[in-house]
Amino acid sequence: MNNDEQLMEKIVTLCKNRGFIFQAGELYGGLAGMYDYGPLGSLLKNNIKNLFIRKFVEERRDTYLIDSAIVMGEKPLTASGHVGGFSDPLVLDQKTGIEYRADTLLEDAGINTQGMRIKDMLDVIAAKGLLGHNDLHQLIGREFNLMLKTQLGSSSDSSVTAYLRPETAQGIFINYKNIIDSMHPKVPFGVAQIGKAYRNEITPRNFIFRLREIEQMEIEYFINPEQWDLQFEYWRDEMLEWCEMIGLDMNKLHEVEIGDKDRAHYSKRTIDFEFDFPFGQKELYGLAYRGDYDLTKHAEHAKTKLQYTDPETNETYVPHVIEPSMGLDRTILALLASAYREDEVDGSPRSYLALKPQVAPYKIAVSPLVRNKDDIVLKANEVFGILKATFGNVAFDDNGNIGKRYRRQDEIGTPFCVVIDYDSLDDGMVSVRDRNTTEQERVGIDELVTYFTTKLQ
Ligand code: GAP
Repeated sequence: MNNDEQLMEKIVTLCKNRGFIFQAGELYGGLAGMYDYGPLGSLLKNNIKNLFIRKFVEERRDTYLIDSAIVMGEKPLTASGHVGGFSDPLVLDQKTGIEYRADTLLEDAGINTQGMRIKDMLDVIAAKGLLGHNDLHQLIGREFNLMLKTQLGSSSDSSVTAYLRPETAQGIFINYKNIIDSMHPKVPFGVAQIGKAYRNEITPRNFIFRLREIEQMEIEYFINPEQWDLQFEYWRDEMLEWCEMIGLDMNKLHEVEIGDKDRAHYSKRTIDFEFDFPFGQKELYGLAYRGDYDLTKHAEHAKTKLQYTDPETNETYVPHVIEPSMGLDRTILALLASAYREDEVDGSPRSYLALKPQVAPYKIAVSPLVRNKDDIVLKANEVFGILKATFGNVAFDDNGNIGKRYRRQDEIGTPFCVVIDYDSLDDGMVSVRDRNTTEQERVGIDELVTYFTTKLQ
């Protein structure tokens, strides 16, 4: 196993053992492409969502947050092109009966699939013997639609076909008119949404990298078409600022311009933000110029006007859209890969997550030095109450000896540990230990809130 494979294994093990992420349905053998977030994973995820809302909604005056239905009807998804075209190339090897995603098979073998059609992919797969033989006749290729279909309604006569949304974006587009009519925004304005999306991936893999149930954080930013290149550059900077703000390793981030043949059907320009995951450089986020594709299609199919009239110039037009699109699960994996560290403390190995305080599941862990001295335990509870009231996610940890508690908190990325000891009872001071440096300092209980307000920024 090479270092990257080891790192991936360590991250997966840490996630399971420390309550971050579990295989969904594990008790019954597991469900491929699905994961459950445990107590610490949920805190981490929520912190990221809150930062997204703070940066892209609360700190702006031009962006609205919505929460649209996950189940969508067939009509809007036909209009958006998903019913007809949201597919991946699938190859069935009749020799084994196993199905593969053709482009992934080729890319894993170092073959660039840009602009390749499925027929070309089968030719190369056979010629290179990627499935262990060269028999082209045994390979059947087809486009496989990734949407998860369901039926709404009880009887087969009256039930209607519906889909779990493949992206949060479409919930925004079909609410464009509602937002214009209710909020009266001025272009440019954005609509943001965080939520689940579903894709029946042919080969889900790499832990939470390629999932069938995903969570996305997306913004559709509606603009005057004349502004598109300026706005595209602006959102590119915003996305980079976001990556830095949450603590991604910026040396592992790469911007990749997507060529004409490989852009999604709706996009006139796309940049992928790729990240050096332990299994290779892969897409983390996308920034797309979707033009007026979505609003025009929905207007056509819904037989309504989806336009904007500028109140100053009276000009009426269909706004164009810049779309920053970010997967939450991939964000978490990239953050864990950025933050995982190993070193040696007092002669023994330690692993820790150097997460930024803003994203760390717990900001602080409070401990009584010993569990059997009532005064110390009481004081620790008092300090815990004060810190929890101000900083929310604070842990109370009195499990095992103090050394073990430090290691446990380091491993889950808690930036600071506060310990109440015998001296605390006399001098009103506690010791505060820094996760990264392991250095400790004495701080007065009265000063803790001010101290951490600065430290946790
Ligand atoms: N609205 C545009 C859109 O959905 P996308 O590139 O298909 O574009 C956006 O997806 C982001 O969602 C990706 O950059 C990635 O972060 C995340 N994502 C997409 N498919 C995923 C999957 N199967 N598993 C995990 N994350 C995924």
